[in-house]
Amino acid sequence: MKSNNTSPQNILLGVSGGIACYKSCALIRLLKQHHIDVRVVLTEAASHFVTPLTFQALTGHPVHQHLLDADEENAMGHIRLAKWADQLLIAPATSNIIAKFSHGIADDLLSTLYLAADCPISIAPAMNQAMWKKPVCQENIQRLRQQGVTIIGPENGQQACGDTGPGRMAEPEQICQQLLSPANRYLNGKKILISAGPTREAIDPVRYISNRSSGKMGYALAQAAEKAGAEVTLVSGPTHLAPPEQVRLIAVESAEQMANAIIPIASQFDVYIGAAAVADYRPVLVEDRKIKKQGINTSIELTQNPDIIAAVAKLTPRPFVVGFAAETHDLENYARNKLRDKNLDVIAANIVGQSRGGFDSNENALRVFWTDGQQTFAMTDKCHLADQLLQLIATKLNE
Ligand code: C5P
Repeated sequence: MKSNNTSPQNILLGVSGGIACYKSCALIRLLKQHHIDVRVVLTEAASHFVTPLTFQALTGHPVHQHLLDADEENAMGHIRLAKWADQLLIAPATSNIIAKFSHGIADDLLSTLYLAADCPISIAPAMNQAMWKKPVCQENIQRLRQQGVTIIGPENGQQACGDTGPGRMAEPEQICQQLLSPANRYLNGKKILISAGPTREAIDPVRYISNRSSGKMGYALAQAAEKAGAEVTLVSGPTHLAPPEQVRLIAVESAEQMANAIIPIASQFDVYIGAAAVADYRPVLVEDRKIKKQGINTSIELTQNPDIIAAVAKLTPRPFVVGFAAETHDLENYARNKLRDKNLDVIAANIVGQSRGGFDSNENALRVFWTDGQQTFAMTDKCHLADQLLQLIATKLNE
């Protein structure tokens, strides 16, 4: 995949059909002022709001509208366009195009380009406030976030239909700033090592001791760090998640394997984030044949696993160390004790066992502590939460 680390030079602007289309014209002018080459793809509905001629005049290029264009398709026009772009931006993005992207439907040029694109993708949603709030729309947005798409806006306010609420397309200045601002690459040049998922401690070739960690938080952190410009290595226990593109993945099973993968290399990193739920204990004896029911010993002798994060915090040189704490009660107390005992720089604590958030959920809330301060992040999806936590880490790194 093309990198996130440099400002885009070639932006492919997808315009889908909403009244906010008129703002796309101002957006093109702004992007051109930044010496960016812009090419436009219009959906059928968008061409009823603003004509292709307007976009052609503004960009200086013909506008692309049809998937099966006889002139273009002999040269595989959509693939060529996708390859040309180093950023795909959809503004405005209607609920329809968002739903198509989120489900992989490719029945027109823009939705096909979304699948063919090998570059960072941003969308600026625009729709009526009731449509934006519909759970199905929010689920689609969340799916796109999880796939690494940056969501810009929408804003709250007066809408063209007379309603007031969230759904107004972000202003062209804000979109432009978010695409081009180095502030979005707040971890540029940083090397970040992240552990994620559970560990499995074998009892015999068939059975193991593990925990309910899904790995979602660690993977969201890896993705958000990569988007923020960091070079990311993810050491992961077994999960069902696809690793984010551009992230180096080291797959492990047990706590000992995780320790062996992390401790020898951790000094080379600027930041270590221990998001893995490392099993504290493992069986002393791992049988090499399946234990039979008859004559089974009803107790398993356990021995303590290495504390990976504490070992990383003892290294010299030592990365900035961020731990996680999943607690069911007395959160601040336990979290602060861990911060001190393991010599961490920051600890992010979440209450598990509540009706929302926690282990297998897509969302979470965090209370983050450091020696002389704390910050609370309200319940939100783990991708957004990861970005908020990383921004805090970036601020602390620069202090
Ligand atoms: O002590 P506790 O397991 O609650 O601490 C949680 C933090 O310590 C997490 O950041 C986790 O990744 C890390 N940890 C570790 N090695 C262990 C146990 C926990 O790195 N053996």
